[in-house]
Amino acid sequence: MERISKNLGRYKNYIFPMEFTSAEILDSLQSFEIRGSDVFLVTYPKSGTVWTQQIIISIHEFDGGLSKYPTNMEKMPWLENINNRDNYPLRPSPRLFACHLTPEFMPPGLEDKKPKIIYVMRNPKDVIVSTYHFSQIFSLFDTPESFEDLFEHFLKGELASSSWFDHIRKWKSMRDRYDILYLTYEDMIGDLKTAVTKICTFLGKNLSEADVEKVVEKSTFKNMKEDPKANYQFLPEILMKGVFMRKGQIGDWKNYFTVAQSERVDRLLQERLGDLSLKFIWE
Ligand code: PPS
Repeated sequence: MERISKNLGRYKNYIFPMEFTSAEILDSLQSFEIRGSDVFLVTYPKSGTVWTQQIIISIHEFDGGLSKYPTNMEKMPWLENINNRDNYPLRPSPRLFACHLTPEFMPPGLEDKKPKIIYVMRNPKDVIVSTYHFSQIFSLFDTPESFEDLFEHFLKGELASSSWFDHIRKWKSMRDRYDILYLTYEDMIGDLKTAVTKICTFLGKNLSEADVEKVVEKSTFKNMKEDPKANYQFLPEILMKGVFMRKGQIGDWKNYFTVAQSERVDRLLQERLGDLSLKFIWE
């Protein structure tokens, strides 16, 4: 592993916060036994992980079993997290995991055992702004010198989880091999109920109309912000000095980007991912 900055390391071309995961854990995932009943939520950081995590947890909470865990982070832990991972193999099914990994680090068996994978994307301009703010309050990320500094690191793929462009391409290319549902943050903002219904259908969860409504209610920005199990204010202050549930909107990038920066992202999006016909909503 090569240290590339104060907080970030690189191993096999993947960049990660060194206090969150490690080269040893990334290697150990190659012998992690997955089950067909596992559910994996995969994202590039700041794309709607914690939001989708709340939806998936709320859908499963009707079955009981998750109430023994005090917070969402324990109900649906990060697969690559360095801490508290001993219980992963012992958890009852269905196990719920979040992760920010690229496909090559995932445990083997996704193709044969076909666990459910939900991949959430967010428009990259808002990902940049969200990352900029989070980097200032989260001690496992590097504090940027300025917005421009963070912007340049993002475009070079030198932030946690490496290149956003590669992350999207790699996960999109798995569509025929894995059992995978693609969602966007913007679609969730536009119609949360439809997103919740899609997730239920994908997970084979036949919830009543009233229960779907309950999940939607629990997952609104306002309610999550006040929910101590879901708002991540349970993280110790040494890790996070500020509010995780920041703004929760589409288009905040307009308050930060110059025209030139916006055009650079548009150009790169076209050059690097143009063939994928992705349709992002920008405002
Ligand atoms: S992390 O640190 O990678 O897990 O972050 P992640 O959860 O992927 O992304 C954080 C952003 O998601 C916003 N968020 C929400 N938006 C709308 N509705 C709901 N319910 C919601 N929950 C979380 C959160 O506010 C971060 O976005 P910004 O733009 O910074 O507000």
